[in-house]
Amino acid sequence: MAKKDIDWENLGFGYIKTDKRYVSNFKDGKWDEGLITEDDKVVISECAGVLQYSQSCFEGLKAYTTEDGRVVTFRPDLNAQRMNDSAERLEMPKLPDGKFLEAVDKVVEANIDWVPPYGSGATLYIRPYMFGSNPVIGVKPADEYQFRVFVTPVGPYFKGGTKAVNLKVSDFDRAAPHGTGHIKAGLNYAMSLHAIVTAHAEGYDENLYLDPATRTKVEETGGANFIFVDHDGNLVVPKSTSILPSITRRSLTVVGEKYLGCKVYEREVLLSELKDFAECGLCGTAAVISPVGSIDDHGNKIVFGDGKEMGPVTKKLYDTLTGIQMGHIEGPEGWVHTIK
Ligand SMILES: Cc1ncc(COP(=O)(O)O)c(C=O)c1O
Repeated sequence: MAKKDIDWENLGFGYIKTDKRYVSNFKDGKWDEGLITEDDKVVISECAGVLQYSQSCFEGLKAYTTEDGRVVTFRPDLNAQRMNDSAERLEMPKLPDGKFLEAVDKVVEANIDWVPPYGSGATLYIRPYMFGSNPVIGVKPADEYQFRVFVTPVGPYFKGGTKAVNLKVSDFDRAAPHGTGHIKAGLNYAMSLHAIVTAHAEGYDENLYLDPATRTKVEETGGANFIFVDHDGNLVVPKSTSILPSITRRSLTVVGEKYLGCKVYEREVLLSELKDFAECGLCGTAAVISPVGSIDDHGNKIVFGDGKEMGPVTKKLYDTLTGIQMGHIEGPEGWVHTIK
């Protein structure tokens, strides 16, 4: 088989149906073996738990082609762990050890011709997800579940690539203090849609959410964690129990400390101190790091650097992490998992 005939350089961040996907069902208290199928349709009861009470969670990771032609994933064990953390919080069954990783590897291998070539700027986005599949009408957890994994080739998340994005401080809240902000539940994203549509209509790329209890501390955006650089070149990342523990952010802080010699401070970050930072970036699997050009707090605009380009520390972080992912910088033990 040969690589698919796709204009890899000009791919957007969208869904393209590939050849194969993975499906496994949970019934009578246990998961079945799971299989690879060509069938992309999900057929469930009209009363399925996911349709009535949004019992669903998901993950997002990528497969990359390295410089020496391998196909790899990046720290997939952390996605497996986070998926089980999400399942536990949503009263869904956990996946047995190794099932998540095996499913991801199988789907990537089955769609190997869809993995974008090295240097194209595109990657294969992997979407594992789980949902309650049997009828549920009284409010309670489902008894049956489906775990699926599909893949789709993607280009950059933000249209401008590494061009700076502009945010607004949102008047909506993303996650309650003892709620579900720290897990990857579909419901967190459903309730953020109105906020993002509103921000886009007002000309912003994304929202900065504050902590709902005091509305004074920085949490995250709808799809990425923040990383700030102070004027001494140190990294500052917001600490909160209601933000998603981003694998990219957790990796960037290690890269900053071990590869670039930065000090890393994980602490509460006040909205009022943003003006004191030199650089600001959004980190996540989709965009790696997107530089933030400005944050508009109700007419009070905070600008980072020249407001357009990636700052120097952010650039070094970006180059080092993508270098590890693409295989031309040696990463810490266990970070890069070779599929083929
Ligand atoms: C709300 C939210 N925060 C942060 C992230 C970044 O997490 P990761 O680096 O694990 O992709 C994501 C994307 O997955 C997200 O949806």
